[in-house]
Amino acid sequence: MGKIRIGLFGFGVVGQGIYEVLRRTKNVDAEIVKICVRSLDKPRPGEIDRRFFTDSADEILLDPAIDLIVEVIDDAEASYRIVKAALERKIPVVSGNKAMLANHLQELIEMQKRNGVALLYDASSCGSIPVIRNLEEYYDNDLLLEVKGILNGSSNYILSRVFDHQCPYAEALAQAQALGFAESDPSFDIEGYDSLFKLVIITVHALGVYVHPRDIFTYGISTIHDSDIRYAREKRVKIKLVAQVVKVAGDRFTMFVMPEFVSPKKYIYSVDDEYNGVVIRGECYDRQFMFGKGAGSLPTASSILSDIMARQHDYRYEYKKMNYADRPAYTTDILLRIYARYTDTPVPAILPFEKIHEQYFSSECNYLIGDVKLSALIEHRAELNGKDLFLANIPLFFIDRD
Ligand SMILES: NC(=O)c1ccc[n+]([C@@H]2O[C@H](COP(=O)([O-])OP(=O)(O)OC[C@H]3O[C@@H](n4cnc5c(N)ncnc54)[C@H](OP(=O)(O)O)[C@@H]3O)[C@@H](O)[C@H]2O)c1
Repeated sequence: MGKIRIGLFGFGVVGQGIYEVLRRTKNVDAEIVKICVRSLDKPRPGEIDRRFFTDSADEILLDPAIDLIVEVIDDAEASYRIVKAALERKIPVVSGNKAMLANHLQELIEMQKRNGVALLYDASSCGSIPVIRNLEEYYDNDLLLEVKGILNGSSNYILSRVFDHQCPYAEALAQAQALGFAESDPSFDIEGYDSLFKLVIITVHALGVYVHPRDIFTYGISTIHDSDIRYAREKRVKIKLVAQVVKVAGDRFTMFVMPEFVSPKKYIYSVDDEYNGVVIRGECYDRQFMFGKGAGSLPTASSILSDIMARQHDYRYEYKKMNYADRPAYTTDILLRIYARYTDTPVPAILPFEKIHEQYFSSECNYLIGDVKLSALIEHRAELNGKDLFLANIPLFFIDRD
């Protein structure tokens, strides 16, 4: 393939990083020829000719000279329209938009096949850590048992400040925002949705199954309290926001996003601050661990660069596992061991615990540790979210091994 002529959508944190990374890289035969942004009035970094910019998507989508679209905008609905229009026109796309991908991946996979065109998105899941292409190419067999990790840097930064620096939660959140790790509306990160979207994408490439985000239990860290932190410290564990997809029996798997008690023996125990870490477990090879920067301008751009280089070699995801005769089925009929701390919300009356292992009542707060089905957590999530309570998973699968 000759020189790749790129139409870039978005010139924010990631878009500017891509411009910089391409400028620094000698062995990539690609150039940005047009940049589409939301507002042409915004000041842009000095050295870039303003004639590069447009606010009309069609100026890129209808330009026959453009042979790759790189889409890094922060509007999931607009991103969906742009990516669909590009794929319909058989223009390959590189995207970093996890919210858009997680909600529409099934349809976008069919479009890729129908039109014989590629959509690459390694940057969407864990920034610079090459999770997707590794799952797609190296782990393209039945041995994979589990992918589990810390997929969101902002919430991890907050929890690290709280655990390692004795910082109050509100102060840690304010620091994360001031440093640009958390959005000004941080709910996407701290309520677990960012991790959820990444987990949906990862599962497509890990097990060949797409599960819609609405069908997955997601619980964040926004209601964590000093008493939870005290409890975890007493037990010598940290609380981390963990996303996981796990094969639970030969033909079934489960997935969820939840705070989890993590003991010092686990790899993810030492994934601190804004870093991400992903543990891959399989038959025969036990555990492998990927660690790195999951977000930020240049780290994310480096992953986009890798996808651009891959297009130079005509690379596309084959979604091989989606065609396997024997794919595991998603189940929520799984017993989890849960820590629940609550004050007024009657957690034991809301959740049908099958067994309660520990219970403690005081004038300040109550807590219990009990076994409850994941399906029950999903069924009752509206009664649990945003209330005066906090839930965390106590890992049962492979209990001491990850
Ligand atoms: N930041 C990270 O570390 C990171 C990591 C991995 C993935 N991502 C993903 O990458 C994407 C971009 O993130 P970001 O942090 O770079 O966002 P950002 O800094 O807020 O920049 C967003 C850019 O998108 C442009 N834009 C918004 N709506 C548009 C539309 N309808 N048409 C054309 N341009 C539009 C904006 O234009 P104006 O400049 O005119 O406002 C801006 O340049 C998101 O999907 C995010 O989830 C980000």
